Amino acid sequence: AGANKVTSNLLTWYDRHARTLPWRTAPDQRRAGVWPDAYRVWLSEVMLQQTTVAAVKKYFEDFTTRWPKVHDLAAARDEEVMAAWAGLGYYARARNLLACARAVSATGGAFPASAARLRDLPGIGDYTSAAIAAIAYDEPVAVVDGNIERVISRLFCIDRPLPAARAEIRQKMQALTPQTRAGDFAQAMMDLGATICTPRRPVCALCPVNDHCGAYSAGTAEDFPVKKKK
Ligand code: ADE
Repeated sequence: AGANKVTSNLLTWYDRHARTLPWRTAPDQRRAGVWPDAYRVWLSEVMLQQTTVAAVKKYFEDFTTRWPKVHDLAAARDEEVMAAWAGLGYYARARNLLACARAVSATGGAFPASAARLRDLPGIGDYTSAAIAAIAYDEPVAVVDGNIERVISRLFCIDRPLPAARAEIRQKMQALTPQTRAGDFAQAMMDLGATICTPRRPVCALCPVNDHCGAYSAGTAEDFPVKKKK
């Protein structure tokens, strides 16, 4: 699908159309190569795991106002944090959040700068470790969430059903991921999936990579991703 064109078109599109979200840095900072603070990226990605962007915004602002640095969160009382988390659901995530903040704080306060080492922290799995490494540390690692699975499966007409297709999707995403701005690239794919390459009625006419998309050229975008019949 022309990896370089897909990648560069998406980065250019992101420069113009990125959603403004409280955990992202401003466009001028991004142009200057300023990456967002790992603590804020970590907090946002943990909150976004099972909760929508719209719902996470105010929780993110509340947490970062009360606990601006990982040391502040680490020093908070459990009950305070659980109360602030109320409404986000999945309380195991809040417990892991505190355990992770305390582990990072106890070792100096810097989040490890690679996906491999982030993976060792409480509550941080494959997705979260890749997202933090790419977005906060510019590591060229593939980030794959549900939106990105859909975009990739359409671009490449991946007809093996999920979940078996995951290894192939990851490999395609890795091949598209640039050596720098991997985090912007991942977030461009997320924004594309949220606003244009939607599950139903995708707006292919507005897509910056429609001329590289297998499903669009076949007129079959809505058929992907293929799901295993139950
Ligand atoms: N969903 C999960 N992570 C996200 C991010 N960084 N931006 C937008 N949506 C997301």
